[in-house]
Order: sequence, then structure tokens, then C-alpha cells
Amino acid sequence: MKVTVVGAGNVGATCADVLASREIANEIILLDIKEGFAEGKALDIWQTSPINLYDSRTIGSTNDYGMTKDSDVVVITSGLPRKPGMSRDDLIATNAGIVKTVTENVIKYSPNAIIVVVSNPLDVMTYCAYLNAKIDSKKVFGMAGVLDTARYRAFLATELNVSPKDIQAVLMGGHGDTMVPLPRYTTVAGIPVTELIAEDKLNEIIERTKFGGGEIVKLLGTSAWYAPGAAAAQMVEAIVRDQKRIFPVCAWLTGEYGLKDIYLGVPVVLGKNGIERIIELDLNAAERTLLNESAEAVKSVMDVLDNMNANA
Ligand code: NAI
Ligand code: 2OP
Repeated sequence: MKVTVVGAGNVGATCADVLASREIANEIILLDIKEGFAEGKALDIWQTSPINLYDSRTIGSTNDYGMTKDSDVVVITSGLPRKPGMSRDDLIATNAGIVKTVTENVIKYSPNAIIVVVSNPLDVMTYCAYLNAKIDSKKVFGMAGVLDTARYRAFLATELNVSPKDIQAVLMGGHGDTMVPLPRYTTVAGIPVTELIAEDKLNEIIERTKFGGGEIVKLLGTSAWYAPGAAAAQMVEAIVRDQKRIFPVCAWLTGEYGLKDIYLGVPVVLGKNGIERIIELDLNAAERTLLNESAEAVKSVMDVLDNMNANA
């Protein structure tokens, strides 16, 4: 299996490192526009192979898409990260230009690739990749829910002092402050979380999850990369190993949840064909309201991109 990661910055390099060290793909191309940057990161990753005992090869490239030819999966992380005080939406104009060019190059050399978008603002950059890839929407989707759910699960594990492995959760909606964690679908080793934690504490954790990205931006001065890189790699693993894993993924909706023509986080089955199925939960009225509010927020940023494209 051949996987390309575009953008050799914090998230891209971490993703490539996880793909290599866990032997998720045997050939990993790490590509960046900055001269020598991807080559340096790839060489460093490859030099961990004798220590960590794996043989997946990571190769770097400065913007040579010929090297990405016939990739099975491409992860797009290129773009600017969020700086303190900057919303994800501030990034739209710059990152849309980058994602457009990258997607066109990716598809030129790997027309059958499955594309996983990571660049922010996530839901809209995924839409941007879809518009420019001009392939089936089941093969273009975004990583956000795996990360946001991981944050939610990690916070719960800390609070309950249990293993994060035992916490299962569903989180829907856009990758932003309107995301919708769903306590009704959160369990700890099969036990509903609401039986283990007081409502006010759970609400605190939900609020912290919604602003989990911003919390790290404030601490580091740039956005997170370990969990985002690992989350993207986990999605790639589900695809290349045809695992049929159920993850919250930013997917193109065509009527599911009463929503259409929008990219939004929903639970899906991920396998070798990309999104193999969108799972429709029986949301209650309050959950549906939150999801609709999140959809409206995402739609308004998608409209910004549509208007930019119309005026181009
Ligand atoms: P970074 O700045 O460390 O890396 C971005 C890389 O993209 C840089 O090395 C840059 O040279 C490269 N790049 C820029 N234009 C390019 C082009 N046209 N072609 C190829 N490479 C290009 O940023 P970081 O921290 O890795 O974040 C990357 C993106 O991922 C950001 O947009 C960030 O907001 C987003 N992100 C999304 C998350 C999610 O949950 N979806 C989580 C964390 C970050
Ligand atoms: C994150 O959630 C900023 O989207 C980035 O860490």
C-alpha cells in the first residue's frame, strides 16, 4: 500500500511517523512545498526504523507529485495552522488556495486515491478538496471527529480514573465550537456514562471538548499535532486494512439527518472503498437541534468558499 501525506509540518510528519512505525503502509511519501523540508523529516522518520523495528519506508519530496503516483490514500495536511486569537474560519482563504492546488496535483497522479483532509477550517477544506477532486464523495472526507472524540474520551478517562480504551463515544457536527458530543451514546465498558458521572461534571467535559483545539493553541502558540496526526493515521489504517471501523468522519451528506449538500461529522463505516456507509442515529429533538445549529455554522463557511469561487 502506498500512502502520501501532503504537508510535512507538525501534523503531517506525525501522521507519517505513525503510518510508518505501525506499518500501516509499506511506502509513505511525505511531500511539502518548502525546499528540503519533507526530505529531512522523511529521513529522520526512516532512521527510527532500526530502533523501532519496522520496514515501512518514508520518502520525502519537495513538491514533486510524480513521486506520489498511484497512491492508495492521500492525507492532506498542508496549510497554515491556527495561531492564538485566530478562528479556524480565519484560515479559509489561504488554505482553500493551498488545498485546491494540492488536490488537483494529487488527483492528476493518483486518480483512484481516497483523500483524507486535515487542513482547517476542516469541514470547508474537505468541501474544497471534493470540489476540486471531482470524484465520488465517498472517497473524499475529513478528519476531525476521531480527534474530537479522542479528546472527549481522554477527559472522561481522567475524570473517572479509568482506561481510555474502555470509553466509547459518538460526537457529531462540524469541527468547531458547535460540535455535538452525545452523552446518550457515551459508554464506559458498556455502562452509560450518565450512571458514572454527575450531569454538571459531564457538561463541563463536553464544553472543554468543544474548545479542546483552542486550549492547546493557547498553551503552545500553535495547534495540536500528536493526537491529530495519530487520528488521521487511524483513519488511513481503517481504509488500507479494510477494517470497517466506525468513526465520526466529516462526510458529504445527501439527505442523511435531513441534511444535504453539506460536509458534516457523522458516524460512518470506513473500509477499502472509503465511506462505505453513513450510520443514521435516532437523535432526540435536543440532539437534532444541536446538529442543525452546527450544520448552519458549517454551511455559512461553505458559503464563503462558494462566494469566493463565484467571484474568482
Ligand atoms: P504546519 O505549519 O506545521 O505544517 C503545514 C505544512 O504545510 C508546512 O510544512 C507547509 O510548508 C506546508 N504547505 C503549505 N502550503 C503547501 C503546499 N501548497 N503544498 C505542500 N505543502 C504545503 O501546520 P500543522 O500544525 O501541521 O497543521 C496543518 C493543518 O492541519 C492546519 O491547517 C491546521 O489548522 C490543521 N489541523 C487540523 C486538525 C483537525 O482536526 N482537522 C487538527 C490539527 C491541525
Ligand atoms: C485542533 O482541533 C486546531 O483543529 C485544530 O486541534
